[in-house]
Amino acid sequence: MKILIVGSGGREHALAWKILQSIKVRQVFVAPGNGGMFHKLPNLTPVNIKATEVEELLAFVLKEKIDLTVVGPENSLSLGICDLFKANGLKVFGPSKAAAQLESSKTFAKEIMQAANVPTAAYKAFKNFQAASEFIERTPWTQMVVKADGLAAGKGVVVCSDKAAAFQAVKDFMLNDILGFKVQDLLIEEFLVGPEVSVFALSDGNNVTFLGTAGDHKRLRDHDQGPNTGGMGVISPSPFFNDGDEEVVMNKIIKPTIAEMKKRGMPFSGVLFAGLMKTPNGYKTLEFNVRFGDPETQALMTLIEDDIVPLFLACAEGVLHNTSIEMSPEKAIHVVMAAHGYPGTEGISVRSGDEITLPIELKSKIFFAGVDRKDGHLLTAGGRVLGLTALADTYEAARAKAYGDVVKINFAGAQFRTDIGVQGLTKEALRG
Ligand code: AMP
Ligand code: GLY
Repeated sequence: MKILIVGSGGREHALAWKILQSIKVRQVFVAPGNGGMFHKLPNLTPVNIKATEVEELLAFVLKEKIDLTVVGPENSLSLGICDLFKANGLKVFGPSKAAAQLESSKTFAKEIMQAANVPTAAYKAFKNFQAASEFIERTPWTQMVVKADGLAAGKGVVVCSDKAAAFQAVKDFMLNDILGFKVQDLLIEEFLVGPEVSVFALSDGNNVTFLGTAGDHKRLRDHDQGPNTGGMGVISPSPFFNDGDEEVVMNKIIKPTIAEMKKRGMPFSGVLFAGLMKTPNGYKTLEFNVRFGDPETQALMTLIEDDIVPLFLACAEGVLHNTSIEMSPEKAIHVVMAAHGYPGTEGISVRSGDEITLPIELKSKIFFAGVDRKDGHLLTAGGRVLGLTALADTYEAARAKAYGDVVKINFAGAQFRTDIGVQGLTKEALRG
């Protein structure tokens, strides 16, 4: 098979690494990819088309006779890349534009959850500033979460510790346009507490297979301090996901969601990534994503023992059987190293062009993201630069292995957390 991967981050590097191992594969292309992944995986073929240039991607796939396209980023999905490819008789791993609303519209996701009886935070939806602010005045809640509809690149959610903060958030979204657009639809929801668990499942629109779990670390600095980021590291499987949780989450959250989407004539195929909170009253759904997580994928792919290509193909062809996926019994820790200034929200801009030096040997797997290659040198290209995934029998051993490599990698201004997986471990240990 000839396979095209769409996207350019560490997630796509991990997908490419896994897909290249498939016995079914003859050639793997990535559009546009990054200089680091092509340096690390010389068998990979770069394609100079951006992930959002869906018409150009279609022309390339038709010309090259690509057998399967695997889509990484959400914005390509929301642009309808899968609809376009399917209409041209092509096989593609990912959901339709309509099904991608599970991520692109928070009000749509809530509507599906309600219809399917999926546990989620109590909420109210608002279409205007007046109604939202009256609600804030009236509600018995003191803490609450304000969520703007639409793709806000992680900036659309404000956790508010009092009514004044909630009022300000609504004003910022609906009147001050701080997201760069006027928020038309907004949710205010109940504040929940508990550890967050990300659950991944594959679906062909009809059948569903559990893939695995992970715990992301969204804040820039140790002890969950500093600004929000795309994710600074991952622990997988989630230490909070106990025996028996898979059955509960699949039966109460994942399967009812897939069934509701099918019932509405917008079957979901691809990977469903559910952001859950494990509250004292059970798992509640915070959000859905309709794609693989970054950097969750850099941990998940290293734990999957099965060939991934037949699974992706089965999703694309609508023939996914309810078989379980073989996973390594090991634990994975993934640590991200980000560029100077990342995420660019603290008054300094994100720097590019710092040279990256790597040791000859690493004990963990390296996945490149914001990296350019120039005259044989690897240079930072902003954002999350790279990440290291280590596997071991215990979380502690995996952490030691990953951090043993982090200290050997150098680029000016590198930022990384030193506590990936630690919080989870402490809480787990406390629970006995
Ligand atoms: P979301 O994009 O909906 O996942 O929200 C981003 C982050 O905000 C989550 O990862 C949580 O840490 C936090 N969050 C979202 N909803 C709630 C809630 N109802 N209660 C407490 N924290 C929340
Ligand atoms: N790491 C979070 C995400 O990919 O959405």
